[in-house]
Amino acid sequence: MMKSGSGGNGYLEYSEHRAGQRRQAVIFFISLFLPFAIILHIYFSHSSVSVYTTTTGKPFPYNHSTQPTSSDASETAGDAILNTGAQCDLFRGDWIPEPAGPFYTNKTCRDIPDHQNCMKNGRPDSGYLYWKWKPDGCHLPRFNASRFLHIVRNKVWGFIGDSIARNNVQSLVCLLSQVEDPMDAYHDEAYMFRRWYFPSYNFTLVVLWSPYLIKQSEDEVNGLPKDQIKLYLDTIDESWKNQLHEFDFIVLSGGEWFYKSSISLEKNKVVGCHYCPGMNFTELGIPFVYRKALRLAFKFITTSPNYKGLTFFRTFTSDHFENGEWFSGGTCNHTVPFQKDQFSMPLLDAEMRKVELEEFEKAAKEGLAKGLKLKLLDTSQALLLRPDGHPGPYRYYYPFANNSHAKVQNDCLHWCLPGPIDSWSEILLEILQHE
Ligand SMILES: *[C@@H]1O[C@H](CO)[C@@H](O)[C@H](O)[C@H]1NC(C)=O
Ligand SMILES: *[C@@H]1O[C@H](CO)[C@@H](O)[C@H](O)[C@H]1NC(C)=O
Ligand SMILES: *[C@@H]1O[C@H](CO)[C@@H](O)[C@H](O)[C@H]1NC(C)=O
Ligand SMILES: *[C@@H]1O[C@H](CO)[C@@H](O)[C@H](O)[C@H]1NC(C)=O
Ligand SMILES: *[C@@H]1O[C@H](CO)[C@@H](O)[C@H](O)[C@H]1NC(C)=O
Ligand SMILES: *[C@@H]1O[C@H](CO)[C@@H](O)[C@H](O)[C@H]1NC(C)=O
Ligand SMILES: *[C@@H]1O[C@H](CO)[C@@H](O)[C@H](O)[C@H]1NC(C)=O
Repeated sequence: MMKSGSGGNGYLEYSEHRAGQRRQAVIFFISLFLPFAIILHIYFSHSSVSVYTTTTGKPFPYNHSTQPTSSDASETAGDAILNTGAQCDLFRGDWIPEPAGPFYTNKTCRDIPDHQNCMKNGRPDSGYLYWKWKPDGCHLPRFNASRFLHIVRNKVWGFIGDSIARNNVQSLVCLLSQVEDPMDAYHDEAYMFRRWYFPSYNFTLVVLWSPYLIKQSEDEVNGLPKDQIKLYLDTIDESWKNQLHEFDFIVLSGGEWFYKSSISLEKNKVVGCHYCPGMNFTELGIPFVYRKALRLAFKFITTSPNYKGLTFFRTFTSDHFENGEWFSGGTCNHTVPFQKDQFSMPLLDAEMRKVELEEFEKAAKEGLAKGLKLKLLDTSQALLLRPDGHPGPYRYYYPFANNSHAKVQNDCLHWCLPGPIDSWSEILLEILQHE
């Protein structure tokens, strides 16, 4: 028995949190980068004991000093799927100095969300901007927005996932806007769903909010309480289900939200839960539920008659909270990257990634049999080495302006823009060019 694993991985963007008395959960409001938007609230289960245990019996949230040093998480990386040469592994490598610096600044990209605009928010160091991902066995060319836009001319590209997916798409928007400033073609009130349009290229970029990929609801059903997340393991999330056919490309991703307390249903019957004390449901474990969700999502993709797109699947992103979690004063004040193998993935995260790789492999085979291509974006390792790339306290504007000892909630999960997440688009372009 151990502390619940909901910790720092389970959240999206946060602005405030409160202790909920009834379930001892933290109610977590996602505030978006726009002032008015407060949309969902999410329940965390950090303050009580969960029956989910990791393989080592170590508590999760993890303790960095007790992490194994082996590269356990990466042995099945997707180099076999890549077509970029025998020795080149885009997903394993190191960060090397890049004197040329970032592709864009807060001046040349007008669309950096405030919470990721670290420079504007007064982050004092800038060294984190001067690194480049250097894959083993090859050189990754610097991002070329013209080339990217040329490839995606007359196409529609969807990003489907949680706030890391949004972080990713915002990075891509900044990168591409160095060639053409896109039009805001659509956004919902809460900016969870957005479309950008690049007129000269007739290219449409879309982000769809679907943190679980499968249907979730907090409604009261079958006597299960309102406000408790219910996951429907046999139902695809409406938010992308009916739009998939529109896309020529998608990037699918997920994982973080499964760390939260939830009840899982199949055929509208409860099959178990993750962290639901007092409810007498079977604890399913986070990886089990994630596997179910991924399997369904991939099956939907490979069996959708009207979808002919190129599918990318991006792997799990670990956070870098130290000395606590997001809700308990955790920080991430590194200013330089880790060296390769200096730091390995927390065990539960590694387990999640393993589930991803296994389900992806199966889906890629099924897709291939139907003439559908699925590609892996196994970015876990690259960004694992970038504890320096997060906003930390600088998700807020000059957080220490009035009090140099102010207690500020840190963000050690999302990434500064510009920042290391820009490398994802370099990797993406590299793979695209070989398609
Ligand atoms: C992490 O583990 C080390 C060694 O086992 C221990 O000394 C340290 O107190 C632990 N830190 C936390 C935050 O639990
Ligand atoms: C950009 O960041 C700099 C600090 O590097 C800051 O002085 C400036 O106000 C920011 N500009 C915008 C438009 O956010
Ligand atoms: C970017 O790509 C375009 C089109 O392929 C090419 O003409 C241009 O030279 C590239 N720019 C750089 C800096 O490599
Ligand atoms: C623009 O892109 C859309 C979406 O891919 C496509 O249906 C349409 O034919 C394109 N328009 C032109 C003029 O090529
Ligand atoms: C919990 O569930 C088990 C098996 O379904 C049942 O035998 C037991 O009586 C239940 N306990 C309570 C307190 O409902
Ligand atoms: C980083 O944060 C820790 C507390 O989490 C603090 O002890 C340490 O001094 C900080 N380092 C720097 C360089 O600010
Ligand atoms: C600092 O004080 C000013 C003036 O009272 C206020 O507007 C601002 O929000 C404060 N900043 C922080 C980070 O608390």
